[in-house]
Amino acid sequence: MTDSSTATSTPTIDPATINPSTIDPSTIDGTAPVANPAHPEIDWNTLGFSYIRTDLRYVAHWKEGAWGEGKLTEDNVLHIAEGSTALHYGQQCFEGMKAYRAKDGTVNLFRPDMNAARMERSCDRLLMPHVPPEMFIDACKQVVAANLRFLPPYGTGGSLYLRPFVIGVGDNIGVRTAPEFIFAVFCVPVGPYFKGGLSPVNFIVSDYDRAAPNGTGAAKVGGNYAASLLPNQEAHARGFGDCVYLDPETHTKIEEVGSANFFAITHEGRFVTPKSPSILASITRQSLLVLARDRLGMDVEEGDVFIDNLSAYKEAGACGTAAVITPIGGIQYKDDFHVFHSETEVGPVVRRLYDELTGVQFGEREAPEGWIVKVE
Ligand SMILES: Cc1ncc(COP(=O)(O)O)c(C=O)c1O
Repeated sequence: MTDSSTATSTPTIDPATINPSTIDPSTIDGTAPVANPAHPEIDWNTLGFSYIRTDLRYVAHWKEGAWGEGKLTEDNVLHIAEGSTALHYGQQCFEGMKAYRAKDGTVNLFRPDMNAARMERSCDRLLMPHVPPEMFIDACKQVVAANLRFLPPYGTGGSLYLRPFVIGVGDNIGVRTAPEFIFAVFCVPVGPYFKGGLSPVNFIVSDYDRAAPNGTGAAKVGGNYAASLLPNQEAHARGFGDCVYLDPETHTKIEEVGSANFFAITHEGRFVTPKSPSILASITRQSLLVLARDRLGMDVEEGDVFIDNLSAYKEAGACGTAAVITPIGGIQYKDDFHVFHSETEVGPVVRRLYDELTGVQFGEREAPEGWIVKVE
């Protein structure tokens, strides 16, 4: 996710005051007890979405056709070749997921298999080697287990954000796939991405495209986010949380909301979310489609949301790992500002979806089969 001025970018604690522990990485085997004490210097209730250096991260190298053994390290700086394709040609991809301290004290990962599969698709698109799902999930578990003191306690609403990524590295100069790759995972304790948690945020439709037809919009690759920095800054300068991107082909349909997917509730109570080949397939959105249908008994539909037909919807939201569910107050499109439920209050359906989703993530509500993977 891009961080920004309207998103909670101000560190709530000074990262410099947090001393990485002197844990010996060789003693970490991914089975640390789940009852580690929480970090004493972090104010969990005011956490935002900012970088905080945690104790250990996982790094693995791919050379000559195979991944080497991944290791946990205290070093939070990567030393890579100046010709690395990740630096020049954007050959890199990443994931964003969270670990949650559940109500019963255990530690939950939410659908990590989906992140592993999406990273494989991103790697395919940029000609990078797959990280096998078992290796991906094992790396995430190791990183969580090694940083338990940074996992926000249950009840604070915070979580431990995990950032797995693959980058092309090694000596190179031409536009070609890299000779070597790095797969790494680090974590950061986070609170809400948008200030105010479940308070509505206003968005503005951008004149820029986030993705091209047949481009890389469906892959979680850095180039998409580099291209979003300017529109994001312009949206903030005009007082909006972020921008809404329209489909790049016709500019008539909503595609995404900043670094999140869009959904809306019709006046008849139907859950609608855009379907397009240039959208990043949000795991949160895919989960909401299931929860809305199976738990809230709603009709659900992946279809077109035309920007000139917003009055068909009584509520709307942005959803994603970082955004969780952010209610959309209103959308500015050209000279019109359309308010959905309210600019200040979350609507009843969006609230129920939020309660259902976060209830599953924090172990308060039963999870559909296979959605929760425990860190033991
Ligand atoms: C462009 C974009 N769309 C949607 C999402 C939401 O996806 P997910 O729910 O898998 O986090 C993200 C976030 O991670 C994103 O960066």
